Amino acid sequence: MLNNSKRYYSIAPMMGKTDSFFCFLMNNINSKTSIYTEMMHSESILRTKILDNYNLLNDLSNITVQIAGNNPTSMAKAAKKISTHGFSKININCGCPSKNVLAGEFGLSLLTKPIIVRKCIEAIKCETNLDISVKTRIGIDNNEDDSILDDFVNEISLADVNKYIIHARNGIIGKLNTKKNLSIPPLKYERVFKLKKNFLNKEIIINGGFLNTLEFTKYKNIIDGIMIGREAYRNPWIFAKKSITNKEKINIVIKYLNGLKVFFKNKPFNKKSISHIHNIYNNINGAKSWRKAVNYAVHNNDLHFLLNYINYNYLGKNV
Ligand SMILES: Cc1cc2nc3c(=O)[nH]c(=O)nc-3n(C[C@H](O)[C@H](O)[C@H](O)COP(=O)(O)O)c2cc1C
Repeated sequence: MLNNSKRYYSIAPMMGKTDSFFCFLMNNINSKTSIYTEMMHSESILRTKILDNYNLLNDLSNITVQIAGNNPTSMAKAAKKISTHGFSKININCGCPSKNVLAGEFGLSLLTKPIIVRKCIEAIKCETNLDISVKTRIGIDNNEDDSILDDFVNEISLADVNKYIIHARNGIIGKLNTKKNLSIPPLKYERVFKLKKNFLNKEIIINGGFLNTLEFTKYKNIIDGIMIGREAYRNPWIFAKKSITNKEKINIVIKYLNGLKVFFKNKPFNKKSISHIHNIYNNINGAKSWRKAVNYAVHNNDLHFLLNYINYNYLGKNV
């Protein structure tokens, strides 16, 4: 069912949200939706088994791994591991304004250090054939100077990167925490549209404040795609086929839970996997009781409770 208008949209990387389980959920809702994983630091990719969580997915072709860091050697080694794992796309985080990230001199601080990013990309390209994109913001602090972002894209383009995802807000360093940095700096879509006009041969994706997947016709001639973050997590059904019924939604959740059951057969259960479906039945009869059931299941690490709950409360009933 995925027509051009749905392909136009993607799901933003979100720490603590777009993990392997959420990617698995989305693959059940719409296996063609492009999803960006939560940010993973190159060193954590190298030193831990974090990528193994993605063994849950049969198909990785729609998943882009977001990587963070600033050391070309470490980034290249991590990228190689990502590639060996079966992924084909990575995205480099140059937009995160969190205190810890800035202290580590990656994330948003790289917007003004594009040479470092270019060197990381060149190192990654020496080791892998991964498709590389970069995600950043339109600027830093109250600086309105277009040249920061233009210089960034110009420099990174020297490493032959053709896809840029731009959160249409400045990031404010020091004065705003990460959460406030997602709402207080004003959205400036015009700045991203202007970037596209300046770099017509680059794929420019806009991000920030989009709430549905219905605006393809409005934006298709202005910008190459739209990335959605918070609303995709709040209501992942915006990525489902238009005519999806409540019954189909219930069956998707059953399939998701059964997939988890198999995955956790020989390993410790991770309650994060079911917290993603807390709001999944909003707007369906019994949503409040469902949320209570999920709370219970999360609290008790009890996946089977939810499957039994669905069997008893939803199946065979008019929902
Ligand atoms: C909980 C949360 C975690 C986030 N984590 C990341 C991240 O790991 N990497 C990143 O590039 N952006 C991250 N972001 C920013 C989003 O990718 C996106 O740029 C931002 O939410 C704006 O899009 P939206 O208005 O559609 O939510 C995060 C946002 C939220 C709400």
